[in-house]
Amino acid sequence: MRSDLKLAVVGATGAVGEVMLDILAERGLKADQVIALASRQSEGSQVSFGRRELTVQCLDDFDFSKVDYGLFSAGSSISEKYAPRAVAAGCTVIDNTSAFRLNDEIPLIVPEVNGDLLKNFKQPGIIANPNCSTIQMVVALEPIQRKYGIRRIDVATYQAVSGAGRKAQEELARQTMQKLTFQEVECKQFSQQMVFNVLPQIDVLQENGYSREEMKMHWETQKIFADDSIAVNATAVRVPVFFGHAEAVHLETVNPFDLDEVEELLGSAEGVVYVPNLDASAHPTPAVHAAGEDPVFVGRLRRDHSRELGMNLWVVADNIRKGAALNAVQIMEMLES
Ligand code: A2P
Repeated sequence: MRSDLKLAVVGATGAVGEVMLDILAERGLKADQVIALASRQSEGSQVSFGRRELTVQCLDDFDFSKVDYGLFSAGSSISEKYAPRAVAAGCTVIDNTSAFRLNDEIPLIVPEVNGDLLKNFKQPGIIANPNCSTIQMVVALEPIQRKYGIRRIDVATYQAVSGAGRKAQEELARQTMQKLTFQEVECKQFSQQMVFNVLPQIDVLQENGYSREEMKMHWETQKIFADDSIAVNATAVRVPVFFGHAEAVHLETVNPFDLDEVEELLGSAEGVVYVPNLDASAHPTPAVHAAGEDPVFVGRLRRDHSRELGMNLWVVADNIRKGAALNAVQIMEMLES
């Protein structure tokens, strides 16, 4: 990336912000190109940037005309308030919250799937980064959608606590310690005990009985694939894993498929590591394969024995990297290329 590029990370002290700074440092950006922003209470504190540290500045006082990009990850209400101001100051915003994802005027981008849309993007403006569960699913399904078409998707997610933010990670660590020392488990971030448990609701319930997280997978998948005919029927579940979401995906294609060909397509798909069904120790898992890594891992591929055009896959990725920070940085790199 060009050496005079400047950017601000909004929410730099949070779970996604921290990894965003790691990725930017890995990409070779210098400390004077990156500004760390957070709330007033973090002002003056230090965050890691490669081997350097950045001093956190307060978002309220920041002048966005000083930067080319703002990578926002501080919650929807912060994005709603500050992203339009940043754009008015000439800064392009890549927004990691749900604030703008379903706005028709705003592109919702996964570079491997619909990055082409960025060719016509007029800067400055806002680009939305999809929900973590949607990103990894569409990266894995893109070659299948392109070759055969997808009619419907049934998916059950197994989502890591880091997706709920830094305080949620800390609560799982605390609950683990409490449980193992026979103390009462405290729940502030989660509705029920998270450790040694699974919770079948992420985000608020809608009138139709689905959670918002589940409906996001439906709405966002249709928008990213630009195909309103795909129906996504999701059950989103939080599991006591720190990093890495897993998804059991059961789909039905529009046209017949050949399983060997699907293996080949997945084997050469951008951003995907295909893991053949060899033995139990090889299957991709969040903690062993995905955490800290960039690709989306796909395994357990098999034909659905119960319906003719059915296919099953297991999709695993680091929810904070490809599911959030990395995808945002890749969007910025595409705009710069
Ligand atoms: P702070 O640490 O100062 O509260 P997470 O998703 O891990 O919970 O992180 C949320 C991020 O959003 C943190 O960096 C947090 O900063 C930031 N944030 C929350 N509220 C504000 C605010 N009012 N202004 C700026 N940043 C905020």
